Amino acid sequence: MKFFVDTADVKEIRDLNDLGLLDGVTTNPSLIMKSGRDITEVTKEICDIVEGPVSAEVTALDHDGMMKEAEVLAKIASNICIKVPLTPDGLKTCKALTSQDQMVNVTLCFSANQALLAAKAGATFISPFVGRLDDLGLDGMELISEIRTIYDNYDFDTEILTASIRTVNHVKQAAMIGSDVATVPPATLHALFKHPLTDKGIDAFLADWAKTGQKIA
Ligand code: G3P
Repeated sequence: MKFFVDTADVKEIRDLNDLGLLDGVTTNPSLIMKSGRDITEVTKEICDIVEGPVSAEVTALDHDGMMKEAEVLAKIASNICIKVPLTPDGLKTCKALTSQDQMVNVTLCFSANQALLAAKAGATFISPFVGRLDDLGLDGMELISEIRTIYDNYDFDTEILTASIRTVNHVKQAAMIGSDVATVPPATLHALFKHPLTDKGIDAFLADWAKTGQKIA
């Protein structure tokens, strides 16, 4: 499973990229707002750090407006992936852009039928939002399973990009189901490393090592 980070925080992106962990980045208007940066400037900086796809979202709601914004965003870098909402205009835009070999991430997906439509529109990625479904008392991960089954039934190339991930458990479940990508907030990505027995084990090994008086050199 590929790891994307869901943030527009350049420092976080640089740190995670240095660990060799990042396959891409997703941003959205809320994350750009949170960064306090200009969208073109910050997106360019992110694209210079990360080799993989960097999703940048359009804000127009009509097809013509989306196409114009997509043209501006696509000029930022060759690894830009245009993010469009799952609406009729969004999918029309998706079809037009992917026909020109432009990567497209279809976002705000909350049902298997929506994911089916996105695949038929040639989406590079579909972004089902698991956390927001869980917030309503529904089962976000069940949606990932349903989409996996449908895409496998028809050999769709669209990659499932599990989004709105809130917990390390979401990451594990996405991997078990066979999600192609998980886009994970930085804090949750860091939390994946953590296990109390790992810390305890390191402490015990180092204490014993100190008693030997040796150095590896
Ligand atoms: O990738 C989509 C993500 O940013 C939404 O997450 O936590 O706002 O539902 P959240």
